[in-house]
Amino acid sequence: MTTAIPAVIALDAAPATRAETASAPVALPRNWYMLAESREVSRGKLVTRKIADREIALFRTQAGVLAAFDGHCAHMGCHLRHAAVIGENLRCALHFRHIDKQGRFLRPDGTPSPDLRQPTYPVAERHGMIFVHVGGEPKHDLPMPDIVSAEEFMARPAGEFRTDTPWYALIANGFDMEHLLSVHQRELKEEAQVSYPDTWSYRIAYRTAVTGTSLADRVMKRMSRNDIRASMTVISGTTMLVQSHAGPSPSIFILSMCPQEGGETLVRGIVGLKAGRSRILDGLKLRLAQWLFKSFLARDYGIFEGLQWHPPAHRHSSGDRFTHQLYDYFMQIEGAGPAPSEGFRTQGIGS
Ligand code: FES
Ligand SMILES: [Fe+2]
Repeated sequence: MTTAIPAVIALDAAPATRAETASAPVALPRNWYMLAESREVSRGKLVTRKIADREIALFRTQAGVLAAFDGHCAHMGCHLRHAAVIGENLRCALHFRHIDKQGRFLRPDGTPSPDLRQPTYPVAERHGMIFVHVGGEPKHDLPMPDIVSAEEFMARPAGEFRTDTPWYALIANGFDMEHLLSVHQRELKEEAQVSYPDTWSYRIAYRTAVTGTSLADRVMKRMSRNDIRASMTVISGTTMLVQSHAGPSPSIFILSMCPQEGGETLVRGIVGLKAGRSRILDGLKLRLAQWLFKSFLARDYGIFEGLQWHPPAHRHSSGDRFTHQLYDYFMQIEGAGPAPSEGFRTQGIGS
């Protein structure tokens, strides 16, 4: 039997206001972030990226080793966007000091100087994407699907987009069971299930049927025989793992919400599937999965403009209860702490 989540709030309680919704989650969670595609950082290349209020310099040495530094030189603060990769080191543009990939400043004879160090970030590369960890040592590995084994999982970058919506509003949208019907034209076939796969993740799993009639809806309906099983897992606040069975093979999206200044978010993602025997066929399946997912997300775009997200006032519908659980999860997310160069900027000389 098909049951939609009740959209109407019961009338037996006193009206609630937004005042009870408390504070916003941390601006920058401690987590892995997708900061660039591998092809953007070839050997000898340096790029800089912003995440919240911090700058990160990302480079690949001539031997192919990746490194991520605080974006300003620890010597006197030159922006490392002007630096050059020289062999295995980075050369700052202001005084030509060389910094090795571990962040050690080198003396002219090539030995490390003991009294100056460039702050570094853990960096990893997978599926054509470069991940940087912000907020000290990683407490977990890079996100991976669990409906496909690591050996069978094949993925590639799926582009990026910027929105004026904060990271937690984007995540909350993925967990909003009520808008599945009103915005995405997907009807829940049974009550969604919530779980906590580990101490940093929150998951919701559900089955839906298509009620829309667009081309993507019709393709989805046919592929899935109108029975789409999907789960959304949020990992350390800003990573979203989307796993769905809508056809013969599962499709997977891993999205990284990179907070930007002014409450904006830059979303980067990868799309993946269970690899088959034909690379050509796998490539076509990836394209189809990406198109279907983008068509699904396109319905959110306009509505998101100007959104000031907060948890719902009541918990009368199951959708509202899930969102409140998500909000409780958000409030436990650990922040990344100050940027390495933040101390000097805020304290100034001599303090
Ligand atoms: S500021 Fe970078 S070497 Fe002096
Ligand atoms: Fe949505």
